[in-house]
Amino acid sequence: MTDIQREAARRKTFAIISHPDAGKTTLTEKLLLYGGAIQLAGSVKARRNQKKATSDWMELEKQRGISITSTVLQFEFSDHVLNLLDTPGHEDFSADTYRTLTAADSAVMLIDNAKGVEAQTRKLYAVCSRRGIPIFTFVNKMDHPGKGPLALLTEVEDVLQIRTTPVNWPIGQGSDFRGVFDRATQMVHLYQKTAHGASKATVDVMPLDDPRLEAALGNELFSTLLEDIELLDIAGDAFDLDRVSRGELTPVFFGSAISNFGVELFLRSFLSMAPPPAPRVSGEKVVEPGEEFSGFVFKIQANMDPQHRDRIAFMRVVSGRFEKDMEVVHTRTGKKLRLTRPQRLFAQERETVEEAYPGDIVGLTNPGAFRLGDTLSLDATNKFEEVPSFVPEVLAVLQNQDVSRLKQFEKGVQQLTEEGLVDVFMDRRSQRREPILGVVGRLQFEVVQFRMISEYGVKTSLEPLPYTLVKWVHGSLADLDGAFLGNGARLLEDAHNRPVMAATSEWNMDFVKKQNKNLTFFDTPEEYEQAMRERGKAAAI
Ligand code: G4P
Repeated sequence: MTDIQREAARRKTFAIISHPDAGKTTLTEKLLLYGGAIQLAGSVKARRNQKKATSDWMELEKQRGISITSTVLQFEFSDHVLNLLDTPGHEDFSADTYRTLTAADSAVMLIDNAKGVEAQTRKLYAVCSRRGIPIFTFVNKMDHPGKGPLALLTEVEDVLQIRTTPVNWPIGQGSDFRGVFDRATQMVHLYQKTAHGASKATVDVMPLDDPRLEAALGNELFSTLLEDIELLDIAGDAFDLDRVSRGELTPVFFGSAISNFGVELFLRSFLSMAPPPAPRVSGEKVVEPGEEFSGFVFKIQANMDPQHRDRIAFMRVVSGRFEKDMEVVHTRTGKKLRLTRPQRLFAQERETVEEAYPGDIVGLTNPGAFRLGDTLSLDATNKFEEVPSFVPEVLAVLQNQDVSRLKQFEKGVQQLTEEGLVDVFMDRRSQRREPILGVVGRLQFEVVQFRMISEYGVKTSLEPLPYTLVKWVHGSLADLDGAFLGNGARLLEDAHNRPVMAATSEWNMDFVKKQNKNLTFFDTPEEYEQAMRERGKAAAI
């Protein structure tokens, strides 16, 4: 085994998916605590407090009490390196969340014992499920009265269409929650309450036949536990790592993040079950983690720190060893690029990265060099297509309210587009050169307007448009310019000058298609590009 393979094998890159308030911040904080990163745990906590109190670097997060942007936390536990990708938890969805999940090899699905599978969890689950990554379920807040373990398992199976296999089983719930029974070791973990904070839970581990157990639990809880265990052996699915790896079966853990119950047990099992960094597809071939360096940019964030005013591209290392000052090929342009000042970001703090391995996330500061989805690699032929484009569902014209700040307005629109926060379009037929923004969730508009004012000093207004559907279009100039659109469609072009049809409904889109048989329509920019490449090849022959 090479050094690179060894380093890759001890890494786990994952995200926690949940509905707001299920306890993601708390669980993150506790995972960091067990990983020995107490200082980091403090900063996560500080971030939560910031959500409520003092000013945050993303003021809007504070105002809405939500977390919009994602950060990456790295910590070590039991000779493993864990990369935790923080996905935004707000209810209105953004493409950023999807993109962040493309960098994860597995996900922890956090469920509130009382609330079960909530809306946001369902959406995030769908994204993970499409990618087929393993999902580990942590049922949180067992110290609160809830739906009960069996009902929750059924709910997960029915709502998400995934089978469940409980790894441990709760002993009591609400104020009676005393601990969990670990099925693999057949040991009972009894917890003692500690104050919510820095100290780890005190655990008493004993076998089922330990006479202290019945005394500690009392007759009723003890006999319920024995009955539950018997039921489990005949009811739940058997644990099967292959099915877990394919995303068909989710191991389920019970606990209470706030009181540290079940957190360490979860972490240890997670380490033994979660996959190491996965190989990724590049064109016709598969790039294995042990190969020479490659990675892809899955997120770009401008102005992360108002004091720095810079832009950071987050790159996930796919293979090989990444080294500071390394020269790589930026495979979209074919140019060579020296990666100076690579950074690791901890909440607010930054640290220079000397080296990184598959699964790690590196922040790159090369301004303007990167676009979402870009591949960086020693092998110039590599091109990962991991990061999908998102097709906007809501459109609006963004108007500049302050003519004297036109330059800043344009810069802001350009940078936020490059970040992938919005898509920008122009009307092909109108003289009005105001940008039309397209987003997946409406909240993104608020974020754009907020950031335009706070980062670029430009006040803007929005004029909503009725279009809910866009398609990329190919046709001759004459066919495009002469296309008959009716009242429910409009011809735009995107930031790369590709023609785009926007329509108010499926019916109107079909109408335009029927009226303009010489035009070809594509659902995504990738499909459009693919078709153009094939045309180019055919023309060359
Ligand atoms: P989020 O990031 O998923 O939005 O959730 P967060 O961790 O901020 O937790 C949401 C609320 O749930 C917090 O209460 C938190 O303390 C509480 N919580 C988290 N885990 C548990 C648990 O295991 N049991 C119980 N009973 N509560 C839990 P809060 O009142 O909003 O904040 P705070 O005053 O506790 O800071």
